[in-house]
Amino acid sequence: MEDLSRLQALGLFDARVPRYTSYPTAPVFSIASCLALQEECLSALDPADPVSVYVHIPFCERLCWFCAYRTQGTRTLSPVEHYLDTLLAELALLRAALPVGIRMGRLHWGGGTPTILPPYLICTLAEAIKAAVPPASPFEFSVEVDPTLFDAEKVAALQSVGMTCASIGIQDFDPKVQAAIGRKQTFAATRRCVETLRKAGGVSLNVDLVYGLPHQTREVVAASLRQVLSLEPDRIALFGYAHVPWMAKRQELIDEAHLPDDRLRHSLFVECAETIVGKGYAAIGIDHFAKSADALSEALRRGTLRRNFQGYTADACQTLIGIGASAISRFPQGYVQNAVATGAYMQRIDSGSLAGYRGHALTQDDKLRARAIEMLMCQFRIDLNSLLSEFGALARTLNPIHDLIVARYSPYITRTADCIAIDSSGAALTRMVAAGYDAYTPAGVVYSRAT
Ligand SMILES: C[S@@+](CC[C@H](N)C(=O)[O-])C[C@H]1O[C@@H](n2cnc3c(N)ncnc32)[C@H](O)[C@@H]1O
Ligand code: SF4
Repeated sequence: MEDLSRLQALGLFDARVPRYTSYPTAPVFSIASCLALQEECLSALDPADPVSVYVHIPFCERLCWFCAYRTQGTRTLSPVEHYLDTLLAELALLRAALPVGIRMGRLHWGGGTPTILPPYLICTLAEAIKAAVPPASPFEFSVEVDPTLFDAEKVAALQSVGMTCASIGIQDFDPKVQAAIGRKQTFAATRRCVETLRKAGGVSLNVDLVYGLPHQTREVVAASLRQVLSLEPDRIALFGYAHVPWMAKRQELIDEAHLPDDRLRHSLFVECAETIVGKGYAAIGIDHFAKSADALSEALRRGTLRRNFQGYTADACQTLIGIGASAISRFPQGYVQNAVATGAYMQRIDSGSLAGYRGHALTQDDKLRARAIEMLMCQFRIDLNSLLSEFGALARTLNPIHDLIVARYSPYITRTADCIAIDSSGAALTRMVAAGYDAYTPAGVVYSRAT
């Protein structure tokens, strides 16, 4: 507890900082010349380098109160079908804008709830994507799965189009916690989903858990985690609940009086992490865990772990093409985000134009800071020699920041000739340390808590 008081004195419980799934973060993107940037980046792609593709499905059958994602509830398929037509139109526009011969190394469907798609739409969408950007070899295809909106026919359809990884939303199995976050999901239904996926074969399994939810106690979370571990997932993501009702209006339904206090919240993470690591999983970055044979563990060992919009990844592709409402593309030259509201996105595509609405052209200084931040988020250290060899003398411009960070966060941060390193006892400070390298403070933006 003494350490926790020191971390608290450094602002751990007060800081509101980005999660750094990109640098600069999306609120920094500006709307000027974004379509020109998108067209320029797409046409400049080198067909020799496979790209990754992300497709966003912003629909759910249920709208969980805790969820910070922008998604639309629907009980009927017609808005989903209409949206699918727009995705197909966007794919046709992309196909025309991309150089001939581009291949796709990875595909991810996220949301919202991609498993809201019935089997025929799963196949239609997958085939259209593969026609626009044919798969490379090897090819990986991951899908976010809601176990309450999933059946054997959907698994068969996903398997027939090449799914290799399913990411299953769990959060917490405790009925009182589930009632307080507006999300019912039994262990039995989740286990059925896992068994169906295992029976299909060839699919690695990730599960999402959340700590810091209302009514979570050490005992409640430990019991939930025992059930999760009995499912033997290949990866576990353990997210801190981001309570941001000013951005996600649904969260106003969450009773703040029942949220764990700062110290309990912190210990929920620490105790879960210890249990998961005790079961043989490797800790990956700030909030992921993976079995030792998993690609994330392998990437961590090799020093090739990356951070992207989905969290941590072993994906080495330089380019990520985002398709659908609010999807963000990352190019070597910069970022482009599609129109965020589903209606606005559909209008843009219907008018025959690509859907980029805001973006950011990366300067060398951005690239340097992005690399330093990614190193911190992935390896808890900045390799100074590697920055020097990648960026030359420009890397030295970070020296005053290194000094400041070391002075501010000592003894948790140390500097040697080769690196700036965060000690494991100060790992909770990582997002705050990363924020020290952020040159932007977008006006009016309040991020989620640092831990
Ligand atoms: C886009 S959601 C898709 C999950 C899928 N629709 C489901 O419900 O199973 C991906 C994950 O984001 C995480 N998430 C959503 N809202 C969050 C919040 N406010 N704080 C932390 N994690 C959150 C949850 O763990 C969730 O499983
Ligand atoms: S957690 Fe999943 S199902 Fe619930 S609202 Fe968010 S995206 Fe939709």
